Amino acid sequence: MAFTPRVFSGVQPTGSLHLGNYLGAVRRFVAMQDEAPCLFCVVDLHAITVWQEPDELARATRHVTAAFLAAGIDPARSIVFNQSRVAAHAELAWIFNCVARMGWLSRMTQFKEKAGRDRENASVGLFAYPNLMAADILAYQATHVPVGEDQKQHLELARDIAQKFNFDYAERLAALGYGEEGLFPLTEPIIQGPATRVMSLRDGAKKMSKSDPSDASRINLTDDADAIAQKVRKAKTDPEPLPSDPKGLEGRPEADNLVGIYAALAGTTKETVLTEHGGAMFSAFKPALADLAVSVLAPMNDAMVRLLADEGHLHAVLAQGAERAAEIAGPVLRDAKRVVGFVA
Ligand code: TRP
Repeated sequence: MAFTPRVFSGVQPTGSLHLGNYLGAVRRFVAMQDEAPCLFCVVDLHAITVWQEPDELARATRHVTAAFLAAGIDPARSIVFNQSRVAAHAELAWIFNCVARMGWLSRMTQFKEKAGRDRENASVGLFAYPNLMAADILAYQATHVPVGEDQKQHLELARDIAQKFNFDYAERLAALGYGEEGLFPLTEPIIQGPATRVMSLRDGAKKMSKSDPSDASRINLTDDADAIAQKVRKAKTDPEPLPSDPKGLEGRPEADNLVGIYAALAGTTKETVLTEHGGAMFSAFKPALADLAVSVLAPMNDAMVRLLADEGHLHAVLAQGAERAAEIAGPVLRDAKRVVGFVA
């Protein structure tokens, strides 16, 4: 018996979401809702693996939730919730802490990057982060996870954990009526194409990031029309006109980025954008890009402002989402605990 398709993804509530998060993640979540049942989780447990100001964490959790809804995630269809409200994540993560090996986690490049030189001072949670991520996914037996390229290694770890758990407890799972496939699926990542990689507006070699000290480097989902237009106008470019095909963007990271953003916002390809705008100077292309960005983002921005003004509604969405999530995770966790040998 195969696992029924289910989508899970998570976004950390650290800082505000920007255009890169929207084009690279949230917009794809919206489309996935037509493919399979989906869970979209604001991963606050993951956020505290590095220090978060408590008020800011709560604010960011509401902010990400509002962005999900403003972008078109429908909380009646999809399950929208914050991780800390569903105890199954932490419980299953503990079991996985005892399944995953030190060696596996020591190879995680994200840990090495985030811990930097001062590894002794990194939280234990930061090291165990991928086990919690595996628990997020596997508590719902999720079969598909839309993530960025940088999360691929964590998804492979989730597969290793699922496989080892299924193998180590195979006999006991069989006794509970589980078939060959075991309790946990080998989840497939759905990796975004490079077309949706949005780079900084100040430096075409760096990813657009919420941690960049320059606010002009990113378009925040809370920026209004004026702010969006101004940031596009001030975006770093070069003095050459646009080429008429994408090959001409090689070695021009800033031009490539703006053309890529235009294509993603318009739902088309760089080729098509350049067929139309090839030969144009940035003084002409930037206003067109600003208009397009505003037409896509301003309605979302309006919706976010409305949603953030109604905390009661946001909290109700999260409460209801958590309840529905717990209903799915409950039986999975119960069987995981049973096969491990916990007395209940
Ligand atoms: N680690 C992911 C990121 O930083 C966030 C995340 C946590 C996640 N749990 C997840 C993504 C489960 C997909 C599935 O982007």
